[in-house]
This record gives sequence, C-alpha cells and structure tokens, in this order.
Amino acid sequence: MLARRYPYYLANQPVDGKQELDVLDKYTGKRATRVALADAAAVRKAIVAAHRAREAMAAFPPDARRDVLEHCVRRFGERAEELAQALCIEAGKPIRDARGEVTRLIDTFRIAAGEATRSPGELLELQISQRARGYRGMVKRVPIGVCSFITPFNFPLNLVAHKVAPAIAAGCPFVLKPADKTPIGALIIAEVLAETDLPKGAFSVVVCSTDDAAALVEDERIALLSFTGGLVGWDLKARAGRKKVTLELGGNAACIVDADPGAPLDHVVERLVFGAYYQSGQSCISVQRIYAHADIYEKLRRKLKAAVAKLRMGDPHDEKTFIGPMVNEEAAQRVESWIAAARKGGAKLLAGGARNRNMLPAALLEKVPHDADLYRREAFGPVAMIEPFDDFDDALDRANDSDFGLQAGVFTGNLDHALRAWDRLEVGGVIVGDVPSFRVDSMPYGGVKHSGLGREGLRYAIEDMTEPRLLVIRG
Ligand code: SIN
Repeated sequence: MLARRYPYYLANQPVDGKQELDVLDKYTGKRATRVALADAAAVRKAIVAAHRAREAMAAFPPDARRDVLEHCVRRFGERAEELAQALCIEAGKPIRDARGEVTRLIDTFRIAAGEATRSPGELLELQISQRARGYRGMVKRVPIGVCSFITPFNFPLNLVAHKVAPAIAAGCPFVLKPADKTPIGALIIAEVLAETDLPKGAFSVVVCSTDDAAALVEDERIALLSFTGGLVGWDLKARAGRKKVTLELGGNAACIVDADPGAPLDHVVERLVFGAYYQSGQSCISVQRIYAHADIYEKLRRKLKAAVAKLRMGDPHDEKTFIGPMVNEEAAQRVESWIAAARKGGAKLLAGGARNRNMLPAALLEKVPHDADLYRREAFGPVAMIEPFDDFDDALDRANDSDFGLQAGVFTGNLDHALRAWDRLEVGGVIVGDVPSFRVDSMPYGGVKHSGLGREGLRYAIEDMTEPRLLVIRG
C-alpha cells in the first residue's frame, strides 16, 4: 500500500533529498517505507518561499480557495482506503479507527471549503456622537501571513488537516512539520495539494529533526505558530518572539457518571470503553479519570471491568482489533511504569495484563493515589482509573483538581447538574451525555490551564489565522 519512498515538499514541489528517514510499521516494528529528510537550510527556504507567497495567497480568491479544498475532499475520497492503510501501518491505528480518521479528514476539508467563501466581516455604527456624523465603518478579516505548523503522531491526517485546511481557507501560506514517527499522512496530503493551482510557495511539508525545525518557532517572518503535542509547547511559546501562538497540549480528561446517568449503564460503559481505550488511549481527550456516584459505583465498576477485560488486542489490520500497538516501546514502558507505581502506592488493578514490546493491554484501576503520575499527568495510553463520589459538586472539584483542562464528560439526567458542570468545570469543552473524547471537527476545540491556548475547529482556527482590518469612510 505504501510507496517505497516519499519526498518532502518545498514550495509546492516534491524534493528527493539525499538524507532519509525510516518509517516503521508500528505493529511489526519493521521498516515500512522511507521519507526524504529536510535539513535546516530547506526549512529556511520553505519559510522564504512562504513569505514571498503572502500576497499571492491573500489575493487568491475565495472561490479558488474553496475549489482547492473541494479538490482535496474529492481526492481523499478516492484514496480513502490507501490513507486508512497508511495510518494503520505508520501509527499502528486499528483499521476501524483509521477509516474513522479518514472520514474526519474529509469532513475537516469539507467544512473548510464552506468557510472559504463565508465573509466574517462586520458593518459598524460609528455615529455615536455629533463628531462622528457621516462616518461609516466596516471590518473585514485579512490573512495573518505565514503560518508554521507542528503536528503530533496520534492523528497523522486529521490534526494536520486542522491546521492546513483553515490556512488555505484563510489565505495563509504555511510550512508544516509533521511528526517524524508518522509523516506519511501529511505527505499524502501534500501530494494532493501539489495537484492544485495554489500559488507557488503557498505550502511546504518538511520532515525534519526538531533541531532543524528551530526556525519554524523562531523566525520573525512567521506570523503564527500552531503546535499540537506535549507540554514542550510552552517552551516553544517562550521562544516564539512576537508571533501569535496557539497550543493544543493534551490533558488527563475526567468523566463524571452521576447517580442518574441519564442513559442506561450499559451504554455509559460502552462509551467509557471507547473514550478510554480507542487507539490505545493515544488521544488528548482520552478518558483517564472516571468519577462515579456511590449509588451506581459497584455496578458500573463490575460492568466496566468485564468490558475492559474483553477488549481484543492484536494486529491493527484485523477488523476485530480494538487495542493495537502504542507508538513505540518506550511509550508503553512509561505507562506500564506509571501503573506499577500507582499500585505500589495502594491502587488496585481491576483489569490489565503484561506488556509485550509496545503492546500494552487495556488497564483499569481504582484507589489510585491522587499524587500518582497516573492521576496527575497525561497517560496517553490504554489506561483509566475509577473512583466513587457522594456529592456532585465534590466530583466537579475533583475533575478540576488537575493542571490540565481540555474537555470533560458528564453523564447525568439532572439538568441542573449539567448546567452546573458547564459553569464550573475548568475546561475548553463540557460534553454532557457522552465522554470527553467526543469531537466533531466544526466545534471549537482547545483547552485552558496547561492544556493550551486558542481553539481549533475550522471557524475558530480561521479567526486566529486572520486579523480584523477596519475601513472608515467619511461622507
Ligand atoms: C487530539 O488528540 O487532540 C485530537 C482528538 C480528536 O481530534 O479526536
């Protein structure tokens, strides 16, 4: 399914550099393909090309931007199975999840195509006093300029799409550095973009080392840096100078199950299992902390334990596989060690098993100490913990007892509780009636506290990628 070697893209053109990088099949651990590696000089050239393309991109008409995005929608549809197989290999993503991500990639570009011709401008009433008689005001939004994007390994298509598609809709040239463990999705997106008539220099996709990517953070010609990944994002912000920065840095999401969950418990269990363990928990909004009301705790715990123990682990190409590999052995070892440390501190393992290389069975724990890494930090693995509560406000306090605040889920049949959760939870999004892992690609997505700055979701990302420009006319 994969090509033998993939070029990187510099100023819309494929480049077969001499240096190359192996991309591993995350399940077999063997080399799946190779990609050409860009160096610091190539990254600088990409920035120069993007900077030169600013005016052409800003002048590229909205309908032409829409046509580019619609071309992508069509081509991704035609290449959907190839894209899903690529994800399955490079990310070890179970094939059903991989197909789901391709569907979302297409959704993201389709929403962006709609946004490209929407005018978010405003007419202003300036005649607020005698001295302003005869003046009219109008505001339009103009592209911010060159954007640099750095994306993570866990959604190699859709988290790339959430930066690339709004940039095209907004009229911003960009340079993207995809995760070096999973660059293929981004390179196929680039291949499709290269089929379009985007102005020269409008896009570059450079696979490179973190050191060689320094200019993407520091170069003053870049107007906006958008980073999705770990807490290192805050260090990038500190180095970013005057540019605007948006960060999506993950979390340790909580899900509260009230005494009346507002849905049958079997449904709640099904959603919790999905939210905590899909793609081995390698999602920023994976369920990590479950707080269940004492009235339903025992029943929920029993059902959840049975459901987790049944999850099928294995080859991500197998349609029945739910738990595939983690991105590498180091990541699986880290989660394994956090589970071991929590148990040493008094936690009880309800489900789980021995690790084999980067294959870690789904784990569920209770009585996890509140100072354990498993409680405090982002696990980013197939593990969740459950604990009982008596009072709904106490559950909200516990959910807020975290450095992070991306999304939270609340199962409740009590409208007052739902609204209180929306008022009180310190997160970017409260999902009532489902897990925090729910996301559709048009909604504002991003966090507070250590989880980040700004929002993605097409309309919100476009707002960050544009600036208001005022026109005042007298007479
Ligand atoms: C993420 O891991 O931040 C993305 C989650 C999603 O898009 O579903």
